[in-house]
Amino acid sequence: MTTLKGALLCGAAAMVATGAAAEELNLICSADVVICEKLVSEFEASHSDIDVNMVRLSSGEAYAKVRAEARNPQTDLWWGGTGDPHLQAAQDGLSAEYKSPMLDQLTDWAQGQAETSGFKTVGVYSGALGWGFNKEIFEKKGIAAPQCWSDLLDPALKGEIQIADPNSSGTAYTALATLVQIMGEDEAFDFLKKMHANVSQYTKSGSAPVKAAARGETGLGIVFQHDAVSQAVEGFPIEVGSPCEGTGYEIGSMSMIEGAQNPDQAKVFYDWVLTAEVQNMMPDAGSFQIPSNASATPPKEAPDLSQIKLIDYDFAEYGSAERRKELLARWDSEVGSLPLQ
Ligand code: F6P
Repeated sequence: MTTLKGALLCGAAAMVATGAAAEELNLICSADVVICEKLVSEFEASHSDIDVNMVRLSSGEAYAKVRAEARNPQTDLWWGGTGDPHLQAAQDGLSAEYKSPMLDQLTDWAQGQAETSGFKTVGVYSGALGWGFNKEIFEKKGIAAPQCWSDLLDPALKGEIQIADPNSSGTAYTALATLVQIMGEDEAFDFLKKMHANVSQYTKSGSAPVKAAARGETGLGIVFQHDAVSQAVEGFPIEVGSPCEGTGYEIGSMSMIEGAQNPDQAKVFYDWVLTAEVQNMMPDAGSFQIPSNASATPPKEAPDLSQIKLIDYDFAEYGSAERRKELLARWDSEVGSLPLQ
């Protein structure tokens, strides 16, 4: 006869033998892979009963995966990535309402994101859009440092600009929505079609363009300014640019997935990742966004948002399913379809 203690010991021995943790969490991470991996290893170190299966996907790709899995969700929690696709997921009923006990420790903008979505998403960090350029390439080619969006049309920049594809990348969608808000929609598409003459590649991930600029593969990448800072901090000859006409910003977000198989484990991660202690770890992984916990310390390297001409980015409109679909379809037909030079 097996005693209860015997059964427990056998179970524990089996777990040791297989190395299996008792519980699981399926996580999509849409920020840089280095911070994604750091969060997973710190979480597993402090929660040895939960095994995290993490996949790193750009924001638009993550939205597409969550949408494709809607009938049979394989994801429990989606952390990071720009807020617009998280808002679209909320509107599409793909994410679940959760009011974390941590909510009142967050900044107004992070709580505002939660309120906009009916508490189906929440702000985890923020950062402004801009660019990073390789000053050695610019000096060698005698190209003036761009100050404004309009400077990106300079023919001297032919083949020197990279930006991501807004279908896969939240960064590039933020750029598209920002230009529409600054210039008006027709003018923004006009601008993008002209800038296309200077673009060598539309990458999948939002930060790839400045990583390419850092390594001298291109002159300039349109990215979040904190991603340009990361390359400068690593010692690459990257200078950060902030457009004179003004610029948009992201509220990087997190969403619980509707119908998740491991909702309790997802809540444990959700509450943990909103603490000041965890958010203060981000600079150790080269991530210099502004944290959403009001008691966390913004990294000293983070671009100072009060010194940047920020537009009043309309998250409700540009995160709405209709607007996002419409802008992406127009980008595909008018910009993405143009041949690269
Ligand atoms: O982690 C860097 C970062 O720029 C985040 O601030 C942002 O939310 C995310 O990457 C966007 O990535 P992508 O453009 O690939 O969706």
